[in-house]
Amino acid sequence: MSDPFYVTTPIYYVNDAPHIGSAYTTIACDALARYHRARGQDTWFLTGTDEHGQKIEEAAIAAGRTPIAHADHFVARFQDAWKKLDISNDDFIRTTEQRHKDVVADIWRRLEAAGAIYLADYEDWYCVGCESFYTETQLVPGDAPGVFLCPDHKRPVQRLKEQSYFFRMAQYAQPLLDYIEAHPEFIQPDFRKNEVVAFVKAGLRDLSVSRRTFKWGIPVPGAPEHVIYVWIDALTNYMSALGGPGTAQYDKFWPQAVHVIGKDILRHHAVYWPTMLLAAGLPLPKTVFAHGWWTANGQKISKSLGNAIDPLGLAADVGVDALRYFLLRETSFGLDGDFSHDAFLGRLNSDLANDLGNLVHRCVKMTELYAGGVIPRLEPGAFEDHPVHGKLAALAIHARDTVAEHMERLQPTRALEALWELVRGGNKYIDDAAPWVQAKDPARAAELSHTVRHFLEALSWIALMVAPFMPKKAGEILDRLGVPGGPERLLRWPRAWGRELTSGQKVVPGEPLWPRLDDDRKAELKARWGVKPAVRKPDKGGDPKNDKQADKPADKSAGKAPQAAAAPPPGSISYDDFKKLDLRVAEVKTAEKVPKADKLLKLTLDLGGETRTVVAGIAAAYAAEALPGKKVIFLANLAPATIRGVRSEGMILAAGDEQVIGLSAIDCDVPPGTKVR
Ligand code: MSP
Repeated sequence: MSDPFYVTTPIYYVNDAPHIGSAYTTIACDALARYHRARGQDTWFLTGTDEHGQKIEEAAIAAGRTPIAHADHFVARFQDAWKKLDISNDDFIRTTEQRHKDVVADIWRRLEAAGAIYLADYEDWYCVGCESFYTETQLVPGDAPGVFLCPDHKRPVQRLKEQSYFFRMAQYAQPLLDYIEAHPEFIQPDFRKNEVVAFVKAGLRDLSVSRRTFKWGIPVPGAPEHVIYVWIDALTNYMSALGGPGTAQYDKFWPQAVHVIGKDILRHHAVYWPTMLLAAGLPLPKTVFAHGWWTANGQKISKSLGNAIDPLGLAADVGVDALRYFLLRETSFGLDGDFSHDAFLGRLNSDLANDLGNLVHRCVKMTELYAGGVIPRLEPGAFEDHPVHGKLAALAIHARDTVAEHMERLQPTRALEALWELVRGGNKYIDDAAPWVQAKDPARAAELSHTVRHFLEALSWIALMVAPFMPKKAGEILDRLGVPGGPERLLRWPRAWGRELTSGQKVVPGEPLWPRLDDDRKAELKARWGVKPAVRKPDKGGDPKNDKQADKPADKSAGKAPQAAAAPPPGSISYDDFKKLDLRVAEVKTAEKVPKADKLLKLTLDLGGETRTVVAGIAAAYAAEALPGKKVIFLANLAPATIRGVRSEGMILAAGDEQVIGLSAIDCDVPPGTKVR
């Protein structure tokens, strides 16, 4: 039996509604927790709210509420959001709960008993935004003499002078460095570890750990005129939610703790927290993993820019699983990322509608067509060495092990990449095995049944592996495969090839899991999400007198980047123009002559789960019978037109000036719907 698994999100301040940043951390932790549960590990997933401190007190006053009423209001919003985003937390801790306050007081006493706390006078600059002190050299000058701004929040800091308790943090710098060196998995990713090591090596100052200037916090035991510094209060949540030192739940989970946080709070988690624990004689968490920050369409997300992204709005419009998938797939976990609505909609169409959605649709449809809608038996050992059939099982086993490896290393993005190799491999398998060809030959009946079982088996493996990321859709895939039961069906990880499905079970057809979004729908969604259309820069190719740049003195750096300044050749288009073309691989399904038109054929095309009709002027070069099965390049977003009474929804690409000579093609077999770029 493997170790238990304990994962935590930061606890969120109750002065803001859940946003894309808090949703991101929480979804990432949820995927990790769901994965470990599926592996049969005893798993505990904690999230919660950070409710004390001057910042919350001020926000409550501004909102005309008591601090606790203010906290209650936001807690309800977080709990509602996590429910809507399918977050499977086992507990939700609030720092205003008694169970939390008791453990904070306990940790304080341990620090005191270890001689790690002393009382002294303190004076420095304080930022309420980050509830942290700064020395003058760390500050940014404000717009008046003597006014300084916090380097992070850019809001004025206050000069605070008070008697405060201090934690002897400086004394634990070397023990912390030793610990980091001995535990390579403690701070991740590695580049963050290097940052922390450099910071600690530069020397630590003792930390002021109490305040007398406000009351909204946990009183210092034995000195209630002081409240405990909000970060000590907050960090202790990871232990208090387990019941604190000395409880069975703590003993089981604490040593396995994985704190997933944003990079902005790395110092608190990788310096303050572990030095405190070292001083209190308590074990350190296993890992602190800092992920990056999201920008929105290339800009820093901020209230003043009004560019916040509402995760619940996105989920309500296109489904929670699409949002979960995008956040974990788009940006390598650990690095900064940009949330672009175009990229979001693009992935929805390509990875979800075209790849996975299409695979599900094809598998069910073909089971109906070629196996009477029933999951066939798997013949043990059959076709093992076959060049097509033999590969799928190996691909699935490889994907299973690679996905697991990446999840164990806190790399959900890489896990999804590995999983999509199997999704695409499943589509390719169907193309290569070509059950529609096998079905024409009665001598290949055993092979056909094997093929159907094979792709269904692969799909069931994909459902189990995709479940930590997209629990709703994973459940729907299992429904299609006729697997009975509720959410407990997802608490499994694929075992042996051929063992996940029950032969004889009927598959269940249904609507596409993700309908492809056409341009109109995308524009409608973007308008709803308040995405401003990209501003087109004026064309600089014209009259130089109209170009303000022409009046300016020569740019000294011009020699370094001549291509940036050079005007594009006449008639050229930009890459952005090219990107507007939605080019895809399409498979011709049927072809027939258009009556009274010698040159025209009417074609139906498969675009990977979607069918289009087009009229093509290729009858002089191609007989209708020769076309079904051919894969061509297709312009999918050409405005529809009616030609000789037939509505044509796109255009296939062909070579030839006046007359078509040949059709476009791709030089290897790719599934219909694949993007051409
Ligand atoms: N209350 C503290 C954490 C205490 S944990 C003991 C706190 N709360 S917070 O609500 O301000 O932020 C919570 C998390 O949201 C942070 O990890 C932060 O990095 C994350 N994010 C906030 N905006 C973000 C982005 N734009 N992108 C990614 N994550 C960001 O800090």
